[in-house]
Amino acid sequence: MAAPNAYIRATETAQYVRSQLPEALQHPKVAIVCGSGLGGLADTIEPEPKVELSYATIPNFPQATVLGHASKFVFGQIGEHKTPVALLVGRAHFYEGHDMDVVTFAARVCKLLGVETIVVTNAAGGLNQTYSVGDIVCLNDHLNIAGLVGVHPLRGPNLDDFGTRFPPLSDAYDLDLRRRTHKAWAKLGLDQGKRKLHEGVYAFVGGPTYETRAECRMLSMLGADVVGMSTVPEIIVARHAGMRVLAFSLVTNSAVLEAGSWGNDPEIQAMSRSELADHLNKGKANHEEVLEAGREAAKDMQALVKQILSDLYED
Ligand code: HPA
Repeated sequence: MAAPNAYIRATETAQYVRSQLPEALQHPKVAIVCGSGLGGLADTIEPEPKVELSYATIPNFPQATVLGHASKFVFGQIGEHKTPVALLVGRAHFYEGHDMDVVTFAARVCKLLGVETIVVTNAAGGLNQTYSVGDIVCLNDHLNIAGLVGVHPLRGPNLDDFGTRFPPLSDAYDLDLRRRTHKAWAKLGLDQGKRKLHEGVYAFVGGPTYETRAECRMLSMLGADVVGMSTVPEIIVARHAGMRVLAFSLVTNSAVLEAGSWGNDPEIQAMSRSELADHLNKGKANHEEVLEAGREAAKDMQALVKQILSDLYED
């Protein structure tokens, strides 16, 4: 729920952050939220000027605790036009026990720093059977499963300083930015490479368990292409505050859609204990696998984001 003082707290934090930055970096136009294993996006910025602020040193800032996530704000410039950017390396997740206003706090600070466009990335499970591990999905819509039952970042008194009470989300995923994404993908020659770029729908679930087979089938039937435990709260808050949104999922594992085997199936009955163990491991999501797929695909994701941003702000 949005705490009534969230605006004041975000303002305090933005003022502190700005006080730590040289003039050239004080007004980032773009923020990039780096998902699991995608912290390498911070390498896309120019080596100078660059400032890193550990979350632990920033007043009011939530700490990220998940393996594979560093926890720092990185400020620098990106692309030939030296666009000032803020990178969030590590994010607070709902499943860590944070309230929604904590999960979305960094996005609000970005708004107060002057950010106009937010690029949100994540690792996600692929539900769409045409997706492979390592593919990249440019999100064009979402299913806010947690939000539909009331766990929503805008629940509570509206923060009028950020935006309106009933913001529309039908245009949440900026079409111009998606168009630029496909152009950038082709321009970089990534369409000739081993991974595919898709557009698809992200289902936000609370986690921290990965989904059961039945849950995967349900989400797939509802129209989701990927499933994950982040991103949607930040995007909602960003849209509430009028930022443009571009979001990417890296498919790090394939969700299992078939029903589990039956214990009385003759084939299952005939298996040894070790064959049974192998059988059960097929398609089981695990965090190591998620990080490994991230490492491999991160370079393409970095090149893509850099290319998209290279001519977004030409002046
Ligand atoms: N489900 C939810 N979140 C995830 C997954 C998944 O399969 N993979 C990476 N993050």
